[in-house]
Amino acid sequence: MDNTRSNSSGPRLAVLIGSVREGRFGPVAAEWFAQQARAHGSFEVEVVDLADHDVPTELPAVSPKYAGDDYPRPAGMAGLTAALERADAFAVVTPEYNHSYPASLKAAVDWHFTQWTAKPVAFVSYGGAAGGRHAVLHLENVLTELHAVTIRDGLAFPDCFTGWQDGAPLDARAAGRAKTLLDQLTWWAHALRSARAASPYPV
Ligand SMILES: Cc1cc2nc3c(=O)[nH]c(=O)nc-3n(C[C@H](O)[C@H](O)[C@H](O)COP(=O)(O)O)c2cc1C
Repeated sequence: MDNTRSNSSGPRLAVLIGSVREGRFGPVAAEWFAQQARAHGSFEVEVVDLADHDVPTELPAVSPKYAGDDYPRPAGMAGLTAALERADAFAVVTPEYNHSYPASLKAAVDWHFTQWTAKPVAFVSYGGAAGGRHAVLHLENVLTELHAVTIRDGLAFPDCFTGWQDGAPLDARAAGRAKTLLDQLTWWAHALRSARAASPYPV
């Protein structure tokens, strides 16, 4: 992995790979975006792959909203929970499945709550003709419930099967768009990290 110019004292950015399907494209998009984020130099970048963690769809009886550290998560989810907890910002890398986002990502969201609260979330989406647009619309709606702050500018890659080569998008405008997104995410990550440190978010 290329760690060039990642900022070890900057806010922590978790680049979350949302698909776990065999033969998935998710890691390609996530590694390219993580490289853009490291080169940007504002963040300490961590790639978090849902496929590396135990994320069952069967949930406990109660919501994690008020349970704090006592929420009964599986042992194999501890690494994921810790990564979400220590992140100051998220880039969710999501495909579109049937006009929404994958069940793996919904399960990862639903097992957590406070880990998302008062933190900024950017989206890197891909798919067929719509480039993951429907997936992002649904994610914006869902993450607002967790008091996350979604970033207006996103990166969307239609026709991901033909639009990428050697781990990078063919569209020459993509790196510039990633920079705009990362500029905005940096602003929000600093603003919300300071705000969280100053006083607890009033949920
Ligand atoms: C179950 C399934 C449903 C899909 N539905 C859509 C869709 O509604 N819109 C779209 O643009 N692409 C759709 N696709 C294409 C995926 O976005 C594309 O295959 C992408 O590579 C999937 O991400 P992944 O490879 O990381 O799993 C679908 C793919 C799968 C497997």
